[in-house]
Amino acid sequence: MSSAAADAASTSKSSPFFRSRLGSALALMPLGVWTVVHLWNNLSAFRGGKQWQAAVTEHSHGAAELVGSFIVFAPLLIHTFWGFSRMRKTKMNVGRYGFFANYKFLLQRLSALGVLGFLGAHVWKAKLEPRIMHGHAETFADISKQMHHHLPTLLVYLLGTLGVAYHLANGIHTFTMSWGLVSSRRALKQMEIVAYIAFIILLAMSWGTIYALWRAGA
Ligand code: HEM
Repeated sequence: MSSAAADAASTSKSSPFFRSRLGSALALMPLGVWTVVHLWNNLSAFRGGKQWQAAVTEHSHGAAELVGSFIVFAPLLIHTFWGFSRMRKTKMNVGRYGFFANYKFLLQRLSALGVLGFLGAHVWKAKLEPRIMHGHAETFADISKQMHHHLPTLLVYLLGTLGVAYHLANGIHTFTMSWGLVSSRRALKQMEIVAYIAFIILLAMSWGTIYALWRAGA
């Protein structure tokens, strides 16, 4: 049996429906949707500092920013706890069965740990530190300078967003399987193609923004 199938069986036996489904549902809505919107907004880096600042760091009202942050961070926390519990409950079997699907299952978990590390660093450096230490939101000048002149920052953003792109794109595929939205062999194959396309789009948006910031920081 593949990891994914064994996994689906263990979910339905060992955890109540609501608990096992909530962490999965929140991963797509609002987390996945928010991620896409965030990447889209960041693409305004191509249009210059003012536009980037307006799209990414400015909010119409302080309360709107607070509510927005809650809508993202609460589901992220719930999804992270759910993710760790899934890691504990499910077993890897790539050693015995080297199916491509089993490697993707392993990569989903490795990328989860990478995304967790990246989000910790990103939220601190881009959101909290500028506000707490300097009393203002991240500026275009600062982030683009860092991207161009500080190699570790560039590498963390390249690898972190690679992890996010894989985790979310492959997650769309596993989500449709775990919710029973697709089941026939043909539909599963089509969803796999959708996941590849999603991966390429998410990566292009991320690395495109990183390139625009890197260029502006020269
Ligand atoms: C931007 C942040 C994140 C997004 C958008 C996201 C999105 C997703 C999506 C859509 C799925 C598929 C859900 C399903 O198959 O039902 C998923 C699965 C998963 N996520 Fe995340 N995730 C994020 C962060 C994290 C973090 C920080 C962890 C840390 C533990 C994590 C752990 C997992 C695990 C372990 C799975 C696989 C569960 C399974 O197949 O049993 N995710 N994620």
